[in-house]
This record gives sequence, C-alpha cells and structure tokens, in this order.
Amino acid sequence: MKKALEQSDRIEFLDTVEETCGKLPDKTLFVVDSGVFYKTLSLANHLRGKSVLLLTPSETEKTLRTVEKIYGALFDGPDLRAMVVIGGGIVGDLAAFAAATYKRGIPLTLVPTTLLSMADSAVGGKNGVNYRGVKNYIGTFRKPDHIYICPAFLKTLSRKELRSGLGELLKYGLIGDEEILRLLAMAPENIQELPYPALIQRGLVIKSRLVAEDFHDVGVRNILNFGHNIGHALENATQGDLAHGEAVALGLLVELRLSEMLLQLDPSLRKNLTGLMDKFGMPTKIEGISGQALLPGLRKDKKNDDQLRFTLLERQNQPRIKVPVPEEAILQAWQDLMEKK
Ligand SMILES: NC(=O)c1ccc[n+]([C@@H]2O[C@H](COP(=O)([O-])OP(=O)(O)OC[C@H]3O[C@@H](n4cnc5c(N)ncnc54)[C@H](O)[C@@H]3O)[C@@H](O)[C@H]2O)c1
Repeated sequence: MKKALEQSDRIEFLDTVEETCGKLPDKTLFVVDSGVFYKTLSLANHLRGKSVLLLTPSETEKTLRTVEKIYGALFDGPDLRAMVVIGGGIVGDLAAFAAATYKRGIPLTLVPTTLLSMADSAVGGKNGVNYRGVKNYIGTFRKPDHIYICPAFLKTLSRKELRSGLGELLKYGLIGDEEILRLLAMAPENIQELPYPALIQRGLVIKSRLVAEDFHDVGVRNILNFGHNIGHALENATQGDLAHGEAVALGLLVELRLSEMLLQLDPSLRKNLTGLMDKFGMPTKIEGISGQALLPGLRKDKKNDDQLRFTLLERQNQPRIKVPVPEEAILQAWQDLMEKK
C-alpha cells in the first residue's frame, strides 16, 4: 500500500520529525505554519538561519493578499528557487497556490502537519484561496514534487483538530474502505491514541486512486466531495466556528440522510456513523442554524451548475456522483437531523 503511494504521488512516510527535516532541500523558501513551528522544537532548530516565512492560518486570511506576501518573500529572498511548506491545510493550500503561480511554477515540497492535511489536502494537487468569503474559489491543479508525511507531528495537535481530520477519514470509510470504520470502531476512545499511520495510508489509497483517474475533478473524483456540499455551506454559515472536518462530518450525516431519501440507502450506515462521531466527541448536531441559512452557500458552491448536485451513496462503498438534489429535500433532511429532538 505504502509502495503504491510512493510511486503514484511521490509520498514518503517518515517516523520522526528529525528524519523528515533531514529530507528537506536548502536554497528554498520555507513557508511554515506558526502553530507547528512554536510547538516543535526540533523543527524550529532545523529552520534556524534559513529563509522562513511564518504564517498564522485563518480562513479569513486564506486570500490573495497572503499569497502576495509569499510572492514578496520569494522575490526579496536570496536566490530562492523552490518552496517547502510545513503546516496544515490552510497554509498548504495558500503556499501551494503561490508556488504554482510564481514564475509560472517553482518546485514544491509539502510537509503536512495536521491530520486533515496528511489524510487529505496535501495529496491530489488542488490548491487555492477563498474569494469574497467563498471557499477555495480561486486556485490551480498542480501536484507537489514531494510529500513527506510524518504522523509524529500529530503529537502536538489539539483534539479539535484531530477530530477535524477524522471527518475526512470517516468519509473514506463510507465511500471506499469500510476497514477504516472497523479500525475506528475497535480503537480506544482517546482520539490521541488512534492508529493514525494505518488510517492515513488507507485513506490516501482511496484518494490517490480517484485523483489518478480524474485529476481535474470532472468525474469520479467528485466522489471525494461526499459530505462537502453541506460541509462547505456549514463552514460559510458558521463563519469558522466549526473546523473544516467537523463541518464535513456533519455534512456526511446530512448527505447520508439525503441518500436515504433519494437513493433508498439503508439508515444503519448513518446510525453507525453517528455512534462513531459520538465516541470521539464530534458534534452530531448543531444549534441555531436553519436549513435556509445553508442555501446561499450551496447555490454559490462551485460544485453546482444550474441545479444543486451532490455525491450521494447508494450503499456503503457505492457512491453516485452529480445527483440532482432539490432544495426542499435539503431543508427536510436538515430538519430531520438538526431540528427534531
Ligand atoms: N487542497 C485540498 O485538496 C483540500 C482538501 C481538504 C481541505 N482543504 C483545506 O484545508 C484547510 C483546513 O486545513 P486544516 O484542517 O489542516 O486546518 P488549519 O490549516 O487551519 O490548521 C489547524 C490548526 O492547527 C495548527 N497546526 C498545524 N500543525 C500543527 C501541529 N502539528 N501541532 C499543533 N498545531 C498545529 C494550525 O496552526 C491551525 O491553528 C481548509 O482551508 C480546507 O479548505 C484543502
């Protein structure tokens, strides 16, 4: 499994932060997430004396203005011809966009340091920024030259951020690898003790396969959007109160309900998912948001054309893409899950 990922996506799995630092090139701009920089002494030591731009990630700063800051650091720096990005998905998406567009593209190495970025965002070549409050509206498709995944970085990650990454792992369990759900069902409740290397690798096998088949996301790669239409709309509606993967996990619940309504999916899958989310302390309901409040975000979503289209499930591991979903069905599903006691 590891071998296939190494070949198809130039991903290397490493055990320690020191080993990972040893792989990184010099003569490069290091764009580093302040969250991991200040918590990982060996990383800070490795970067001493190098060209480093520290960024503090936030969705409101995931914009072209921050990309320009990165261009400035490249332009002003001493003969910087490549970029290494160390951090979570926000810094990764931003800096990878800058690397893809600066001088029409410079070499890029990604070192994801959150669970979500290891299991999802670092792989697949999508990068980008938010525009006028709409998520990831501007960006490119461009694979990094190297990806180093070192789960040891997760030791300093907060429980909330671990839960966020878990949202994407749960998605992989529903769309393609039920072993992920089994591993999670058997694991201890303490979210810091989950078998992350195995979970990340299994998830990436699914992502990598779909990306290889449909890099530009016009067909089967849409499968990865399961949970994301509602997830993104929720992120918009809650203005950043929910971490990305927490919003996605709630999106999975609502989109499973829609799958039951529109594709006769067995409700046991949703019950199983709710149980796992409860076990790991993830929110399964959200107060104070009406279904109506999600609709503007859904209508603007770049995944939709003249009608709302979702990836839904016919059965476990049997997704169907581009299913037209009437707004009334969304309001009904939302009401069933979030507004009924
Ligand atoms: N490109 C893609 O294919 C893709 C896929 C999924 C999500 N995304 C994007 O990813 C973003 C979310 O990424 P995220 O979940 O990594 O969140 P994030 O980038 O906001 O990081 C979460 C928090 O963790 C901190 N952090 C990072 N590494 C740490 C570490 N090792 N220890 C302690 N703290 C650490 C960060 O400073 C931040 O405060 C969203 O903007 C989403 O749109 C992109």
